[in-house]
Amino acid sequence: MTPGPLNVAVFASGSGSNFQALLDHQSERDEWRVVVLVCNREAGAMRRARAAGVDAVLVPTKDREASDVARDTLEVLEAHHVDVVLLAGYLRLLPSEVVRRYAGRILNIHPALLPDFGGRGMYGMNVHRAVVASGASESGASVHLVDEEYDRGAIVGQWRVPVLPDDTPEELAARVLAVEHRLYPRAVDHLCSAVRAGRRVEAMPDPSLEHTPEPSEGER
Ligand code: GRF
Repeated sequence: MTPGPLNVAVFASGSGSNFQALLDHQSERDEWRVVVLVCNREAGAMRRARAAGVDAVLVPTKDREASDVARDTLEVLEAHHVDVVLLAGYLRLLPSEVVRRYAGRILNIHPALLPDFGGRGMYGMNVHRAVVASGASESGASVHLVDEEYDRGAIVGQWRVPVLPDDTPEELAARVLAVEHRLYPRAVDHLCSAVRAGRRVEAMPDPSLEHTPEPSEGER
């Protein structure tokens, strides 16, 4: 591991609003910093990286041998001395060589309360359409450790939101995305503390259940 802040790589395929939330949060901290963005296609996240002066690297996955993608990905991570990997809307499985190399140091964020509404095909609006159709009264965001299957690793943090009776999938998506932006940076702080201390990360309390204590008589 490198001395000083932990070096973080973010992987994204889309607009990168979570990537942006991570960039915005890291400036308040010196425990970790984003050193590289990896995209499998020209994505909105790349524009955000360039605007923030963060290296943005394209490692295409389409029609390529898995072993070539794995080699190129590991090369990027090694060149940037990466300690921790974050998936933020990355729509590909990470090569298993990367998963093994960074075991216990890779997180993903998912827009539902895993283990429900996860797995193959459960991404983007598919998730929110399925939640609304199920009649569930709650949804939320989950951050979990990444293993070699979609959405199956141990959950590190969740943030619940209500599903309102007349919610459209789009309304629910916006409510979940807003808490993703708050949950992911906290979960990264939590993982990085564990990595620095050389321990396995444990689940953190659900921040949506935190409450501000009622002021006492004298404080009112
Ligand atoms: C988020 O909803 C995240 O949970 C999922 O992909 C979406 C990425 O959105 N894995 P953005 O690109 O960060 O805006």
